[in-house]
Amino acid sequence: MKRLLVLLLVLVMNQAYAENGKPASAGYEKWKKECGSCHVAYPPHMLSGENWQQLMKHLDKHFDSNAVLDTRDNSLILDFLKRYAGSGERYSSASLRISDTPWFVREHRVISENEWKLSQVKTRSNCSACHGKVVLGD
Ligand code: HEC
Ligand code: HEC
Repeated sequence: MKRLLVLLLVLVMNQAYAENGKPASAGYEKWKKECGSCHVAYPPHMLSGENWQQLMKHLDKHFDSNAVLDTRDNSLILDFLKRYAGSGERYSSASLRISDTPWFVREHRVISENEWKLSQVKTRSNCSACHGKVVLGD
């Protein structure tokens, strides 16, 4: 039952992403393509708007990678991320990592240090090692 509810919620949210005003739709397509090329496209509601803003400002130094975009794509994606961002402390982290936010830490408190280090997982950022596309909003 819980899985079904999550699935329905995700379906509804995906529609919301796709159906809103034109700029949001363009941002959605760009986000899926550009932010999903190296890792899963982390859903906007998992991090605060201020964190997304900081993250998009420094894509040249993106967690030791270079993920720089042209100005137009950058601002389309940022608009999209901010529109659907999480709000409040629970969705913020100084490191700009979803995996350091209070909500994430809480939801994953059952996982031990050793489990995070399993070779199939390697890093907390590797959401799809444990989650299907449903949780990740695809
Ligand atoms: C060139 C490859 C590349 C592209 C393109 C890219 N990223 Fe990343 N991203 C990374 C790497 C590498 C990490 C660090 C992963 C790790 O620590 O295991 C990362 C980590 C992240 C994290 C933190 C994950 C966590 O641990 O919570 C977020 C959030 C993020 N990226 C958002 C984005 C967004 C938004 C875009 C699109 C604008 C994007 N990324 C595009 C390579 C990329
Ligand atoms: C080592 C495996 C693992 C990794 C990696 C992992 N998670 Fe999880 N996640 C879990 C487990 C286990 C739970 C708890 C499920 C429960 O309580 O039903 C959970 C819970 C969640 C939940 C809340 C419960 C739900 O199913 O909706 C969300 C959202 C979530 N994770 C997102 C993420 C995101 C985003 C990432 C990557 C940044 C990630 N997870 C990385 C294992 C993992």
